[in-house]
Amino acid sequence: MYEDYQNILEELKTKSHFRDLKDYEGKDEKFIYFRGRKLLNLSSNNYLNFADNEKITKEFLDWAEGKYSFGSASARLLTGTLPIYKELEELLSEMYGKERTLLYNSGYHANVGISSALCQKGDVIFSDKLNHASIIDGMRLSEGKFFRFPHNDMSALENLLERERGNYKNAFIITESVFSMDGDIEDLKKIIQLKKKYDCIMIIDEAHAFGVFGEKGLGVAESFGIINDIDLIVGTFGKAIGSMGAFVTGSKILIDFLINKSRAFIFSTALPPINVAFTKWIIEHKLPETLEKRKRMLSIAKIMGSDSHIIPVIIGGNKETVDLCEVLFHNGYFTLPIRPPTVPVGTSRLRLSLTSDITEEDLKVLGEKLNALTLVKQAK
Ligand SMILES: Cc1ncc(COP(=O)(O)O)c(C=O)c1O
Repeated sequence: MYEDYQNILEELKTKSHFRDLKDYEGKDEKFIYFRGRKLLNLSSNNYLNFADNEKITKEFLDWAEGKYSFGSASARLLTGTLPIYKELEELLSEMYGKERTLLYNSGYHANVGISSALCQKGDVIFSDKLNHASIIDGMRLSEGKFFRFPHNDMSALENLLERERGNYKNAFIITESVFSMDGDIEDLKKIIQLKKKYDCIMIIDEAHAFGVFGEKGLGVAESFGIINDIDLIVGTFGKAIGSMGAFVTGSKILIDFLINKSRAFIFSTALPPINVAFTKWIIEHKLPETLEKRKRMLSIAKIMGSDSHIIPVIIGGNKETVDLCEVLFHNGYFTLPIRPPTVPVGTSRLRLSLTSDITEEDLKVLGEKLNALTLVKQAK
C-alpha cells in the first residue's frame, strides 16, 4: 500500500537527498550540543543570540510578570486580537512610517497568504528564481499567472516586464532582500525603477535582514533608504528576533484587503500572546543595543566574502558536502549540508550563518580547513 512512498524514500537515500530529524542535546547562545560535543553553531538563524539565551528569557519572564498567556484560543478576526497584537502592529507601522501592519503566524504563513490573496485572476507576479519556497507556494495558490526571472538579473526582469506587463491587470514584483541560501542582496534600487516604469506593486521579504541591517534593524530597505518606495515589506520574528511570527507593513488599503481576503491569516489561531509580547519587548528593549555587534558581524562576513551574515560555501556534490560537514564537526563547528531541492542540483553547499557573538578567533580553524579545501579543488 505504501510502496510508492517507500520507493521514493529509497531513491532519496541513493542520491544522498534523504533527510531526517536530528537529536540535538541542547543549544546555548552561539553553541549547540550534538553527538556529545559542544560546537560553534554556524547553522542558526539566531543572528543576535536572543533565542536559546537563558539570561534574556529570564529577564523577559520577570518583566512579563505573568501578564500574557500561552494561547490565544482564537483567530484574529474572532476573539484573537488582544491589545498586545495591536501594540506590536502599531509599533512596526511607526518604525517603518507605513500606514498599517499585520501580524502573521510565521513567515511561511505571510508569504503564502499575501500573494495568493492579492494576485487575482488576470493579474501577474514576477518573482526572483531563488525566492523562498513560501513565496513560490503563495504564487502557486494565487489565481494569477507568475513568471520567474533569473536570480538578481535585472535585464531579464525588464525584458519580461516589457513582454508581459501589458497582458495583465495588476502586476507584482516579489523578491527577498538578503537571499536565504546565497546571502547576496537583490538590486532593490533597480527594481524600484522598474516597478515605477511598469506600474507594479513591489513586495520584499526581509526575513533574513530584519533585525540585522539598518540603524534601527528594519532591514536592507532601511539601510538603502528606500522604505517609502516599497509597497509591502515582510519581516519575520523567528530569525534575528529569536521569537516566532511575521509581519507585513504597507498601505492601509492593501493591509485591509489582506485582513479580509488572506486565508493564511484568517483561518489560523493567532500567535500566543506571550510570544507577541516577547517580540515587542525584544524590538523595543534589546534590538536598539545591538548596532555595534551587528556592524561587527557584517564586517566579519565581508572578510569571508559575503555582503551579509549568510555565507555560502558551494561544494557541488551532495556527498562531498556531507563529508566536509563531518570534518568541520570534528574541529568543533556545526554546519549543515544544504542540498537539492533546497538549492539547485550541483550546487550543494554549506550555508554558514554568523551570529553576533561569534568572533574572528572563533572562525580561525574553519578558515584553515576551507582554504585547504580550495587548494585541493584547484589541484584537481
Ligand atoms: C526568505 C524566507 N522567507 C520566509 C521564511 C519563513 O519564515 P518562518 O520560518 O517564520 O516561517 C524563511 C524561512 O526560512 C525564509 O528564509
